[in-house]
Amino acid sequence: MKIAGKTLLITGASSGIGKALAYKSAEKNANLCIGARRFDKLLQIKEEIEQQYKVKVVPVKLDVRNKESIKYFVGTALESFNSIDVLINNAGVGLEGSIEKVDEENYDYLMDINVKGVYLLTKEIVPIMKQQYSGTIVNISSLGGYVGMPLYSIYSMSKFAVRGLTESLRMELSPYKIKVIGVYPGPIPTEFQKMTKRLDEHKEKNQPNFFWDNVENTARKIIQGIERGKRDIFIRPLWWFTAALVSRYPSLIDFLYKKFYR
Ligand SMILES: NC(=O)c1ccc[n+]([C@@H]2O[C@H](COP(=O)([O-])OP(=O)(O)OC[C@H]3O[C@@H](n4cnc5c(N)ncnc54)[C@H](OP(=O)(O)O)[C@@H]3O)[C@@H](O)[C@H]2O)c1
Repeated sequence: MKIAGKTLLITGASSGIGKALAYKSAEKNANLCIGARRFDKLLQIKEEIEQQYKVKVVPVKLDVRNKESIKYFVGTALESFNSIDVLINNAGVGLEGSIEKVDEENYDYLMDINVKGVYLLTKEIVPIMKQQYSGTIVNISSLGGYVGMPLYSIYSMSKFAVRGLTESLRMELSPYKIKVIGVYPGPIPTEFQKMTKRLDEHKEKNQPNFFWDNVENTARKIIQGIERGKRDIFIRPLWWFTAALVSRYPSLIDFLYKKFYR
């Protein structure tokens, strides 16, 4: 499916991967409904994109934790466009901390955005796509949705949950011609790193440069994956290989973590 002329809904489009996805989609002539809490950033993105490309961008103030806000986001998209072709559940936050430091407030905040937000928005969109008898839902999980990471237990838990939802819905929705795609990026330098709440004394990790992906390349790979109707998108073969290896030889990852993270 080519995305030219289609309508994409992107959450968490005010920065990072979501913002890069908005520009890459516009470059391919897709119309957009973009949501996030920082409306000023969305407005700026709308203006820049509409100056550069012949597409329509509708910015909507959105908090994925809130059901009414989600209804407003989807309602605005429906009023503005004839169909909703692609939903990208991208909004997400990070949390680093040993399990005993994670209080319920931190836990709920992360789960409400990373998991409940995906559930609420998907639940709102699915009846529309079923009626259209077409659509694509893209869930941005993480390599942490395949591989557990020390000090990221709750974040990893949330991304495993997104993977579980993705895998189940893929089968549930295929009779309605709705595709469901999981995205599993490795580390990418975005606001995410700065915004991740760190509950322990933070020690810089010895993470080799080659681990980092570029945000524009990540967005390009995601759009390419959507257009090619991929099942999963791993951004680069190394992450696909890591996920496959961990599934087959789980103890190998313990060794790699000791080598690169400690
Ligand atoms: N960067 C990485 O290393 C990495 C690796 C793997 C996976 N990921 C995943 O990729 C996704 C995007 O991350 P990123 O790297 O682009 O981080 P980012 O630059 O911090 O972007 C996160 C986006 O989520 C939005 N957001 C946060 N809470 C929200 C809420 N309650 N309602 C609506 N929007 C909300 C933020 O916008 P507002 O603050 O304006 O609401 C922002 O636009 C996340 O799901 C993340 O878990 C990131």
